[in-house]
Amino acid sequence: GRGAAMVTAVALRLAAQRRAVDEVLAPLRLSRDDLEKVQALMRQEMDRGLCKETNATASVRMLPTYVSHTPDGTEQGDFLALDLGGTNFRVLVVRVAEEGISMASEIYVIPAAIMQGTGEELFDHILDCIIDFQMKQKLVTHMLPLGFTFSFPCKQVGLDKALLLTWTKGFSASGCVGEDIVQLLRDAAQRKRHLGMQVVALVNDTVGTMMACGYDDPRCEIGLIVGTGTNACYMEEMRNVGTVEGDEGRMCINMEWGAFGDNGCLDHLFTHFDKVVDESTINPGKQRFEKLISGMYLGEIVRQILMVMVEKQLLFQGKPCPKLQTKDIFKTKFLSTIELNGLALGQIRAILNELELDATFEDSALMREVCQTVSLRAAQLCAAGLAAVVEKMRESRGLDQLSVTVGVDGTLYKLHPCFSSNLQKTLKDLAPKCNVTFLLSEDGSGKGAALVAAVASRAANAME
Ligand code: GLC
Repeated sequence: GRGAAMVTAVALRLAAQRRAVDEVLAPLRLSRDDLEKVQALMRQEMDRGLCKETNATASVRMLPTYVSHTPDGTEQGDFLALDLGGTNFRVLVVRVAEEGISMASEIYVIPAAIMQGTGEELFDHILDCIIDFQMKQKLVTHMLPLGFTFSFPCKQVGLDKALLLTWTKGFSASGCVGEDIVQLLRDAAQRKRHLGMQVVALVNDTVGTMMACGYDDPRCEIGLIVGTGTNACYMEEMRNVGTVEGDEGRMCINMEWGAFGDNGCLDHLFTHFDKVVDESTINPGKQRFEKLISGMYLGEIVRQILMVMVEKQLLFQGKPCPKLQTKDIFKTKFLSTIELNGLALGQIRAILNELELDATFEDSALMREVCQTVSLRAAQLCAAGLAAVVEKMRESRGLDQLSVTVGVDGTLYKLHPCFSSNLQKTLKDLAPKCNVTFLLSEDGSGKGAALVAAVASRAANAME
């Protein structure tokens, strides 16, 4: 009768809707084969980055860090640390003692106008924050060695000399690219006549994280960040590092894997959504791998997909949704909440309503699926990159089986309910001969910078 006809009509409509949704999402779903290809390409770019002749044209820069040992537990002293380039700018005082590490820190805001103003303004602002911090901590009369976690690609010539190659992640302060960042900080200290600090080391956040975790676990020889941006570092054999003299021992390499694909080698993976997101950033064509993975961009990919779904009348009954036009409405926090296990559709709907998105239950379910697809792809790509790293380490060391720890930090990795398990599962699958443990770093950037500063100032004192 009529009832049955209606049921059939609904079933048909749902089936058509499902097909249409799958069609939109298909380019974002990666096969095992796709991931193996990414792993192989990453490996190829790593080799090109390490080799003196091909380094200049490699998309993965493989930057030497001049850090040649992970901590041995004998490091000691009081240090200042700065952490610039993640979600927050922080100033810390870190006490490294026999009993362990303790610290105090303060978060400071860097207004967008300063991130994108002049370098002098940026470093003056940083100095104001340091001075404020030292006053609050009653440390003004102390001359403290300072370790600077600076989470951008730098060509280092030593621990305390680091030329900025390019800004990433929305920073664009003028007059810094090509300059020695340590010197810019020292110049600002001079301008403010601030004598309470001595910059002894600059490290990338991946390196800080590896060092911090290495203090607790000597097997930690990889650092991974999945936050605002994404990147990794690891201990490489010096004989494989063609860009630094010497063949003995190891050196930590800051991969700058966020730029993987900037030479076109990942073009086959980029979807329409990825291209639109890339074009709307201040650095189009750059950091293409990062833009598939990290917290600064995932919400934007989701938003682009949703806009297409509205257009195709798959979402919000095709009603135009002006709110979806707002850039960056979906923060990492949102992506993490919407995928929380067991979160009822009613709760999702409430979250969406808070963003002034008027969603039905069906809409809510679809939005969750979109988020899941995007975050799964991110985790899998990250795993493919990491698989290339651990496999290379295993090979270099001539081992059948490698056991290694990865120190990890970053808001996406820490807040997202499935990112880390998806990452770990895919990594096991792609690198079965490697037994990889993940260690979450607590305040890794600050701690790590202090540990590097400790080694640096110990070496400096030994030379005096
Ligand atoms: C960006 C930076 C890199 C940093 C990463 C994570 O990719 O270029 O240096 O490690 O973000 O913060």
